Amino acid sequence: MQTLPSHGEPITGSGPHYDRAKEAKEFDETKAGVKGLVDSGVAKVPRLFIHPLENLHDLSPDTDGPATGLEVPIIDMMGYRDSRRRDVVNDLCRASETWGFFQIINHGVPVDAMDGMLEAVKKFHEQPEGMKREWYSRDDAKKFRYYSNGDLFRSKAATWKDTIWFDFSRGVLDPEAVPLLCREPVFEYERHIEKLKISLSELLSEALGLDSDYLGDIECMKSKRMAGHYYPICPEPELTIGTINHSDASFLTLLLQNHHGGLQVRHQNQWIDVSPVPGAILANIGNFMQLVSNDKFKSVEHRVLARRARPRVSVACFLLPGEMQKSYGPIKELLDENNPPVYREISFTDYFGYYLSSGNGLSGESVLPHFRVSESK
Ligand code: OGA
Ligand code: NI
Repeated sequence: MQTLPSHGEPITGSGPHYDRAKEAKEFDETKAGVKGLVDSGVAKVPRLFIHPLENLHDLSPDTDGPATGLEVPIIDMMGYRDSRRRDVVNDLCRASETWGFFQIINHGVPVDAMDGMLEAVKKFHEQPEGMKREWYSRDDAKKFRYYSNGDLFRSKAATWKDTIWFDFSRGVLDPEAVPLLCREPVFEYERHIEKLKISLSELLSEALGLDSDYLGDIECMKSKRMAGHYYPICPEPELTIGTINHSDASFLTLLLQNHHGGLQVRHQNQWIDVSPVPGAILANIGNFMQLVSNDKFKSVEHRVLARRARPRVSVACFLLPGEMQKSYGPIKELLDENNPPVYREISFTDYFGYYLSSGNGLSGESVLPHFRVSESK
């Protein structure tokens, strides 16, 4: 793998002597991911992974970032079924309107199930290459697969992470399709997440001022897809990034992270570090929730820094519609003459197609504005 002779140059992954497509193909064919590069002892970030300066200028990967005094809200679900329901609904509403991102505690998912899931993801990625290779695939039809950089052949620069993917979206995931190493922990975690999802669906319905069954009835979060990310240690974290700034296409994302940090959320024009809170599950409003809530709830940008010190492990569970072809638009009950629909109706399939082709996740620009009523005329 070709590396750069020196750092700090204004690099964009192109140039007369650089064949990016060839490097990407060679990297992909190793089927060993970024972890494989690190295991082979790379001391420099290969050029394929070096980001243009516009993505790098405001990173501070080895510090805890500027002390902004701001923290992602923590929502305590204790008592949400009875005595504290109204408080929890209010807290969720405020957090969804302002931050679009929150940490949930006392959510009912046992710590053992969370730790087991994170450990399974870590173990998968830290296996010898020979054990992982057979699972490496870019075939979307596979219910379980392992890959590095889903957008490797489209992005300007690759990111410093590998992923395993569990697709619970079309019916039940066959346990046989999942490597033995992850099987028990992922099904155990999924079972608990399903319960939490139902509770959050009711609470968020109420936070929108709707009947508690509303979001459940429209099946907007019926499917789950999970990404088990592994961010290996990085020799030059100032030249690359773990996950580029993006907002999620989902309705809601539930995110587990290990204790090493690296996640940042965009709030009031600043990048805010999300400090790991023991036992917490993070949640963030996705683009589709912003759309159906007619901009009441905000889907915000986030990113993950590459780090020199320790690997980061995370599990993102994307909650998506049961029927990908079904159209969703702003919820009628939320609209009146003072609050006309901001967005037109669109199916998740069509939205996601546009999301991928226009490069959200690559450039960070939200694609939601494209579906605004005024833009569609
Ligand atoms: C994602 C994401 C953050 C993380 O998968 O969409 O934002 O911590 N992940 O891995
Ligand atoms: Ni995300």
